[in-house]
Amino acid sequence: MDRNLALDFVRATEAAAINSAYWMGKGDEKAADHAAVEAMRKAFSVIDMDGTIVIGEGERDEAPMLYIGEKVGSGKGMKLDIAVDPLEGTTITARGDPNAMSVFAAAPAGCLLNAPDTYMDKIAVGRECAGAIDLDASAEENLHTVAKRLNKDIEEVTVIILDRDRHKELIEKVRKCGCRIRLIRDGDIAGALAPAIEDSGVDILMGTGGAPEGVIAAVALNCLGGEIQGRLNFRNDEERARAKKMGIADLKKKFEMNELVKNDEAMFAATGVTDGTILKGVRFLSGGAETHSIVMRAKTKTVRFIQAKHKFEHFPDY
Ligand code: FBP
Repeated sequence: MDRNLALDFVRATEAAAINSAYWMGKGDEKAADHAAVEAMRKAFSVIDMDGTIVIGEGERDEAPMLYIGEKVGSGKGMKLDIAVDPLEGTTITARGDPNAMSVFAAAPAGCLLNAPDTYMDKIAVGRECAGAIDLDASAEENLHTVAKRLNKDIEEVTVIILDRDRHKELIEKVRKCGCRIRLIRDGDIAGALAPAIEDSGVDILMGTGGAPEGVIAAVALNCLGGEIQGRLNFRNDEERARAKKMGIADLKKKFEMNELVKNDEAMFAATGVTDGTILKGVRFLSGGAETHSIVMRAKTKTVRFIQAKHKFEHFPDY
């Protein structure tokens, strides 16, 4: 993949983040999401790629833009699978809580798992623990493995978990082990990346979140050198049928990272909307805005943090 595309992709997440940041704390999730989607869609139109959305805002009949199967880009460049979450953390943004981001991932066509919009059981760690965890092992086993790999006492291991009723049992097990827990209201892409980011204070993500978010996190962890494993978790037969239709043959399969993203050419970009563990949120300045983004390539494992000042007077209208 042309490495220069990385900057084009960041422009798209920056535009989406700025547009949705206007909605921070205004209690309107839909408006915040719509603002992000519109800006990202516009920014895509000038990028030289022959992209197809494989993870997006939903099926064609439920999403007017960035729907699964939608062609994006000028059509001129390489054939790419595109996965987007223009606003990861709609509720977070509506409340002004931390960790909302605009997120983008791309890989050569056919290389991203076409994950249905169901839940996924996930476990994610950073570089030092890659290769040591197993979604099929018990929570206790994984936590002790992580402690050993990180050369920490079990009481020093920090687990990030989405604050949901469905995690009651998991939380009890983790507490019984003696580990520390950071419960998050939303945003398990940032949660999955945290163990792979130095100084995040998080060692492992456990629990069930969105499957599309799992695939996007896999791209990011491929770049950062961590690991994620996932298994689709269905609520009903309708979701099972949808997964089959999308080509998932084995509904109970444990997906390893190289099955979530099948190629080392992937790229990931994200821009903070509200302040978070990894990225600062959008700051509005006189006549402009400041954004904080991360952009990474799996091939070279280069991780770039980009702080940008935008002057609205000169902001592209694409
Ligand atoms: P949205 O950006 O769509 O609001 O998703 C936020 C999120 O917290 C994801 O990070 C996570 O994977 C998913 O929702 C969890 O779903 P649920 O809120 O149904 O538990």
